Amino acid sequence: MQSNPNYAYVRGQVLPLEQATLHISDLSIQRGYGVFDYFRVFHGKPVFLDDYLERFHASAAAMNLEVPVPDADLRQAIDELIRRNNLPLSGMKMILTGGYSENGYDPAEASLIIQQQPLILPGPEMLEQGIKVITHEYVREVPRAKTINYTMGIRLIGEIRRRGASDVLYQQNGVVSEFPRCNLFIVKQDNTVVTPADNVLLGVTRKNVLALAGKKYKAAEGTVTLEDVYGAKEVFLTSTTKRIVPIVQVDEQVIGTGKPGDVTLSLLQDLVQLEEEKGAKMLV
Ligand SMILES: Cc1ncc(COP(=O)(O)O)c(C=O)c1O
Repeated sequence: MQSNPNYAYVRGQVLPLEQATLHISDLSIQRGYGVFDYFRVFHGKPVFLDDYLERFHASAAAMNLEVPVPDADLRQAIDELIRRNNLPLSGMKMILTGGYSENGYDPAEASLIIQQQPLILPGPEMLEQGIKVITHEYVREVPRAKTINYTMGIRLIGEIRRRGASDVLYQQNGVVSEFPRCNLFIVKQDNTVVTPADNVLLGVTRKNVLALAGKKYKAAEGTVTLEDVYGAKEVFLTSTTKRIVPIVQVDEQVIGTGKPGDVTLSLLQDLVQLEEEKGAKMLV
């Protein structure tokens, strides 16, 4: 059994959770200004950490935020939380905000927070049955940055539930991009695997799945329309917390046979194997 995480890093200090707080002048609270990243801890080690750190820095740069400590300190803080919290399978969130603003608008020295949370991967039911998603017209303000602004996704939770769906796929003028927290892939009738190129966050899972797909099938980034999605043989989503989840219905359109497809399931197997190999290597 995993215990609850007890410590978090806030503005230079590792603190018990009850003391891990920000002042109300922080620009994340005042203006929703900040970025974050999230990686998995597996067998007590961060997986693909270099990729996530690189994206964290890219998000920060895109939003004119400066990471206040060198990467060596960041890695040290991560190691310390892993040691203290003892959560061998978990997620680690690094949040960077605009800091304690004097006038509630101008950025100050950025606040860096690191939080470790228990993680539950999708169960067999979701993988056996697949999920339904709906679509919504929207593009995130800075798609290449992982900002803390998930307002649209959260506003849509009620509609998603009312329509018996599990998630929402963003589209604009009939061109699809991503989910609030996941990337999209389609498998065309000829087994070509395609993921949207534009207006998306460059997911680490997306990158790994594209590389794995390229070993067995034709795989590419490109323009994906709603029509492409409705007419696809298979559709699936990817993310750090979900790995790969098959999608069997988009709006009122049943995808393919209405069951998770072979390409999706074989890529999930390949991804799990890649993580195991990576994890095993880290243990040596
Ligand atoms: C907007 C968005 N797209 C895609 C993803 C998936 O990225 P990753 O595979 O790196 O978790 C996320 C992750 O949270 C996200 O927030």
